[in-house]
Amino acid sequence: MKQLNLDLGEKSYPIYIGQNLLNQEELLISHISGKQVMIVTDAIVAPLYLSKVKNLLSSFEVIEVILPDGEEYKILDTVNTIFTALLEVCFDRSCTLIALGGGVVGDITGFAAASYQRGVDFIQIPTTLLSQVDSSVGGKTGVNHALGKNMIGSFHQPKCVVIDVDTLDTLDDRQYSAGLAEVIKYGLLGNADFLSYLQNNIDSLMSRDKNLVIKIVHQSCMDKANIVAQDELEVGKRALLNLGHTFGHAIENTLGYGVYLHGEAVAVGMLMAVKLSALEGFITNKEVQLVKDLLQKANLPVVISSKINYQTFVNAMSVDKKVINREVRLILMEKIGQAFISNDYQQSNLEQIIKGFL
Ligand code: GLY
Repeated sequence: MKQLNLDLGEKSYPIYIGQNLLNQEELLISHISGKQVMIVTDAIVAPLYLSKVKNLLSSFEVIEVILPDGEEYKILDTVNTIFTALLEVCFDRSCTLIALGGGVVGDITGFAAASYQRGVDFIQIPTTLLSQVDSSVGGKTGVNHALGKNMIGSFHQPKCVVIDVDTLDTLDDRQYSAGLAEVIKYGLLGNADFLSYLQNNIDSLMSRDKNLVIKIVHQSCMDKANIVAQDELEVGKRALLNLGHTFGHAIENTLGYGVYLHGEAVAVGMLMAVKLSALEGFITNKEVQLVKDLLQKANLPVVISSKINYQTFVNAMSVDKKVINREVRLILMEKIGQAFISNDYQQSNLEQIIKGFL
């Protein structure tokens, strides 16, 4: 097992990465301080791993909530379902919520934990590649609004993150590829060596070589933990982790949540950001092609499959947490492996890129 520490002073926590971790009782229960535990999972993950996690918690009072699967359920109503279940059994402020599932379960559960009785503990057990490399680490929690992705939420750090890569054995290929989009993101935004590594090993990664999978999960978590430790609340550098996300969120919002998986929308969004960076004169068309090739080898989309109205798309882009004083700030590439946040791009270049994809 590998262990990382996200260094946030009193809020610091470990990230455990390895195989067979869902059989290791101590790992989990050493981070639970009270006696009451709620496991939140979804209809896909429950039959696979819920009893395994429950078995680790025999000395606790455990209740469970099984949510419907999908991004379209990442809404306030679902959070309310969790509050109702907690109140029905009178769970108090000493309780711990465990998020067992992908990014949607993690974000909803974290937000419920951030708000229930003004904040209770929670633990992340991510079971998809995307949640293992990104959303379970760093304490971003929340839900979508019909008018904007992740618009309602809170920063609330988990007590620990338990990443058992064996759970990826049951993950379908589409979800696995969606997770690779966020892995590629780390290479693009700040780690050119990692990007080369991914390019050189993409075939073995697509056949899910376990050692390679552990290596990329570990490297991604390390890169993310490093950035979050410097800028927990995203006043600066953490925004780089949103490479491709302003475009991606607009794709998800305009097509309807759940049509493109989050990672798929981010893949297209990253290509848009990379192409805009080339048009702005930072990187070459050859480098754009290398990124596109990698995304395609990872079985990720590089086009938007349905027609979207230009103005509708631009409006959706303006509902973004990086918008300040109505100015859309984008993450662009200064060079491959080095991103920066910009409000200084040519509007005509942005328009050309968006129109080229719609
Ligand atoms: N997923 C981007 C972040 O956690 O900041």
